[in-house]
Amino acid sequence: MSAAPGTSKTHDVGERISWNLRSPISNKINLVRLDNGRSYDLPEGQPLPKVGDKPKHAKAKGGKVVEVLTWETRRENMEGVCYACHTSEYVSGHYKQFDDLVNLYNEKFAKPIAAIMADLKKSGKITPSPFDEQIEWTWWEIWHHEGRRARHGASMSGPDYTWWHGMYEVAKHTYFKFIPDLKKAAGEQEAARLLEKHFKPIDGHDWFFSGMSKDAIEKVRQGYEDRYGKGALK
Ligand code: HEC
Repeated sequence: MSAAPGTSKTHDVGERISWNLRSPISNKINLVRLDNGRSYDLPEGQPLPKVGDKPKHAKAKGGKVVEVLTWETRRENMEGVCYACHTSEYVSGHYKQFDDLVNLYNEKFAKPIAAIMADLKKSGKITPSPFDEQIEWTWWEIWHHEGRRARHGASMSGPDYTWWHGMYEVAKHTYFKFIPDLKKAAGEQEAARLLEKHFKPIDGHDWFFSGMSKDAIEKVRQGYEDRYGKGALK
């Protein structure tokens, strides 16, 4: 994390982090540093202040901007450390896997579920207070427990947490907890409408609506046989 050729040392362990992995939906983060020693993250897409500005941000506390590090710069600085020991293919391979995992979590699961939760609140199917309906606990566990483990696991090359305690549980609990809870909260008909609106446009959920085609099942069987021998998947 610290000094490497071309990268000076730092004690700020968050300085070279390019993804926020804490929130229900992950975003890339830019870093703003101020002359009063404070600093804060701004999610990608929000306007960045310039050096010399006095931002109104709650965490600025009257400070003047001395440096703005975009998420791209933060990542380049982190990669600069990795290159001390690894080849560039190795490092870009790591970041490709990491980004793909976070995007999969965001796009297939977190965004459509968050959109359904917002619709349920708007239509009064659930109350504004948090945690008084089962579906709120289910969503909480999907993003806060399982989805975070998956994302942190991928950032740390931890397959156990990325997969067995991560995406496996995110997927299982989306289909077999969240969707049943949705039917309970909104009724079958409204649940079907919300799934059609938020899940159906996403390719990865196609099997849920249309079932798996013979071709798709054959591809899975073939994959098993290639790997484990003839008759491996009955
Ligand atoms: C000081 C040298 C050093 C630095 C700096 C370093 N690594 Fe490594 N990395 C290693 C070594 C050594 C291993 C192999 C460890 C082992 O096999 O037990 C390794 C293993 C890995 C693995 C394979 C893990 C696995 O389970 O197979 C990945 C991925 C990885 N590093 C990515 C990175 C990334 C990304 C960075 C920069 C953020 C980085 N490394 C920085 C030395 C380093």
